Amino acid sequence: MASPRVLSGIQPTADSFHLGNYLGAVRQYVTMQEGYDAFYCVVDLHAITVDYQPEALRRRSRVAAAQLFAVGLDPDRSTVFIQSHVREHTELAWVLICLTGMGEAGRMTQFKDKSAKYGESSAGVGLFTYPILQAADILLYQADKVPVGADQKQHLELTRDLAQRFNHRFGETFTLPEPHIVKGVEKITDLQDPTAKMSKSSSSPGGILDLLEDPGPLRKKIMRAVTDTGTEIVFDEENKPGIANLLRILSALTGTPIPELETRYAGQGYGTFKKDVAEAVVETFTPIRERTEKLLADETQLDRMLAAGAARARKVAAETMEKVRDRAGFLTAS
Ligand code: TRP
Repeated sequence: MASPRVLSGIQPTADSFHLGNYLGAVRQYVTMQEGYDAFYCVVDLHAITVDYQPEALRRRSRVAAAQLFAVGLDPDRSTVFIQSHVREHTELAWVLICLTGMGEAGRMTQFKDKSAKYGESSAGVGLFTYPILQAADILLYQADKVPVGADQKQHLELTRDLAQRFNHRFGETFTLPEPHIVKGVEKITDLQDPTAKMSKSSSSPGGILDLLEDPGPLRKKIMRAVTDTGTEIVFDEENKPGIANLLRILSALTGTPIPELETRYAGQGYGTFKKDVAEAVVETFTPIRERTEKLLADETQLDRMLAAGAARARKVAAETMEKVRDRAGFLTAS
């Protein structure tokens, strides 16, 4: 039997992935290339739903792809590609848009949050249809599992609803995907505001740890992370969100359960603890940064890897799209 399929997408909207992306999603991509037929795409079409600069987008798409290879995605095992290289994404998105209700799309909380930031009337229609394009990404590949952060649950629900609606109206076509959300790292928070999610769009530079950052600034940010008065290193989300966040990070990076860390640091100050967190982060990030730089130094080779990924992705996408076109009632172009 064929392996179950996994698909995920990541936006090229920053010059580096951050620790939240890494622990919440990207690290999982690597684990899941074992045992799954894995498809991972850099979703450049999603990145244009907000203000952007073409040159920055081009650079960030390559940087994102290079980081995916650098964390350990093996191009022989995983299909890594750029979303816009596979035209079927936009084609399927249109068909799904026509199956989506205005009210249904308007209930998406990520849209509400993002459009509120832009001001209701200046948010683009692309932002409104963003989750439907995401549904197309997933359904094109008949994905069984979708590794994402917890904030994407609602988009996965919409994806399942649209798949079911299409299947019901036009005949069984799409696999219903399940989100795959990693426990324990759902909430990597901002180092300066430990109750808010670490996020490229809202974190201040001091609150975010970038995968491609040098060791010096990484250490400095962790040493300056907001903690609480008191001296104990205990996991108390409510009263000590800063320490809880650092415990989550250290636990995720070293594989040590949090209770064990609490015992280890009992009676020790915040300073020693933070130094260890900083070391764990630097140790994880440094080899990834070095591999990313190497990949980016040879653009021709990187672009070749992405072309190979796109060719593999296109084959699967075209097959699904052929069924969709037929079932939805389009004439075959002869
Ligand atoms: N919306 C996702 C995020 O912000 C990115 C994304 C786009 C995605 N297409 C996808 C994730 C398909 C999973 C599957 O994280």
